[in-house]
Amino acid sequence: MSNKGARNLFIVGSLFFFAIFLALSFDTIGKLDKRAPEITEDVNAGKMVWHKYDCIGCHTIFGTGSYFAPDMTKVSERRPKEYLKQFMMDPKSVKPNAAMPKLGISSEEADHLIAFFDWISKVDTNGWPPKPILATAAGVNSRELSAGQKVYQSLGCSNCHTISGIGGTAGPELTHVGNKRDRAWLIGHFKNPDDYVPHSAMPKVKAPDADIEQLAEYMLTLK
Ligand code: HEC
Ligand code: HEC
Repeated sequence: MSNKGARNLFIVGSLFFFAIFLALSFDTIGKLDKRAPEITEDVNAGKMVWHKYDCIGCHTIFGTGSYFAPDMTKVSERRPKEYLKQFMMDPKSVKPNAAMPKLGISSEEADHLIAFFDWISKVDTNGWPPKPILATAAGVNSRELSAGQKVYQSLGCSNCHTISGIGGTAGPELTHVGNKRDRAWLIGHFKNPDDYVPHSAMPKVKAPDADIEQLAEYMLTLK
């Protein structure tokens, strides 16, 4: 092949592969756009508020963050906007025993956060988080809870214990506690943890006997 032929082959070949590269890049970018909707100014402002108050110190998004509080990836699918706004500005006005502190979020900041939550809820996460986790997270305040679950929530047990990934870590995980303890142990331990576990750091459960029994029933279902 002559020099000229080689040069032409080089130029044509380079252009050909560059064209393929461009076509594939546009194709990928097109798909990415479909995976995540457009980022508006409100969404961006909401992300800033999310960082400003260090929400990730307690919550997770896309599974990253802290496991003290529910995951926020799909929160705007399970909660109406008015609820979210009121809860974020003053958690106790929605849930008297809320573990989330009143952070001083303004009305505008709450609107931005909601835009941010709306945006992340639309990101295609391939079905994540799985429904059982969503259901547990959504269980906060839900009417479908069993009597024992309601007592568990109202007494703030999840501040110290984790069930199926949700809760605090001061006490042992309770996801399978029903395999480990029987009814009598549970009830006795609730009334006076020290009798069962010397120097227990768990506070006595101060609740009517009926509630303590419901709580034990609930624990026994955790297997
Ligand atoms: C100190 C820990 C903590 C921090 C910080 C925190 N949260 Fe929470 N949050 C919680 C807990 C715990 C809950 C579960 C309900 C409850 O008991 O308060 C919750 C619940 C929520 C809910 C209601 C979820 C539902 O499904 O009902 C929203 C919305 C929320 N938080 C948003 C935020 C945002 C936004 C921030 C940051 C501006 C934030 N949280 C910071 C602990 C926290
Ligand atoms: C201040 C943190 C705290 C709170 C609140 C708390 N616990 Fe505990 N819990 C602990 C600690 C620490 C232990 C481990 C010591 C012990 O077993 O007594 C424990 C142990 C347990 C155990 C035994 C687990 C095992 O594997 O042996 C059960 C069951 C339990 N807690 C249920 C509850 C329930 C239900 C509530 C709500 C009424 C509750 N806890 C509230 C800290 C707490």
